[in-house]
Amino acid sequence: MRKASEFWSFFDGEVAPRLALRANTFRKMFEHLDRLDTPINIIETGCARFKDDWTDGQSTMLFDKYIHHHAAESKLYSVDINKAATDYARTFIGPKTILTTDDSVKYLAKLTADFLANGRTADLVYLDAHDLDWHYWYPSAAHHLMELCAVSRILRKDTLVVVDDCAHSASFVRTNNNINFITPPIIGGKGRLVAEFAARIGAKVEFSEYQAGWSGF
Ligand SMILES: C[S@@+](CC[C@H](N)C(=O)[O-])C[C@H]1O[C@@H](n2cnc3c(N)ncnc32)[C@H](O)[C@@H]1O
Repeated sequence: MRKASEFWSFFDGEVAPRLALRANTFRKMFEHLDRLDTPINIIETGCARFKDDWTDGQSTMLFDKYIHHHAAESKLYSVDINKAATDYARTFIGPKTILTTDDSVKYLAKLTADFLANGRTADLVYLDAHDLDWHYWYPSAAHHLMELCAVSRILRKDTLVVVDDCAHSASFVRTNNNINFITPPIIGGKGRLVAEFAARIGAKVEFSEYQAGWSGF
């Protein structure tokens, strides 16, 4: 059931067409949050950094808008290492968003300790710090795995963990008009190592498009 009708009008009317490849999976994130009755906690790494640039997703604006229409104590925790990015995000966030300039892994370790001390858990974790080089994906993928480690103690089985920029990766050879797969497509990009860890521990892939999401960590 859709809860915050004002948010959904904004999402369906203004935002979804601009989100392109991310539209379907952002919709799934908000539908997941709509199913929760309690005040919600969203944690994101890598905040929106450029005005009107939808190629990154403007995640901070979307999450901030969503919690604005959700239960009073709902919060968005957002972190970015670049002060220029947090300065930009600070121009549009509301009072329920807590924005910090710091390294995300260090920040998540501190936030986790604070959540544990107060008996709190995360409802949605959105990992999008560390820009990706599609050809040399390892540094970004390793950073996102570290972020998952830092936050893992405040995840519930139904917490949704989403990583941006996870287009599939495969090896193939083109012959005439055919594509011959040497290895089948797997979740790639920023989420490549999170995906490998998730598969080994039996976490559930909730979606795998341009963004990938899991529960059951
Ligand atoms: C792709 S952008 C985030 C886009 C944003 N989620 C959106 O939807 O508009 C990646 C951001 O990660 C930040 N970043 C890079 N390394 C980081 C780190 N170690 N800790 C925190 N943020 C980092 C960059 O400064 C950049 O602003």
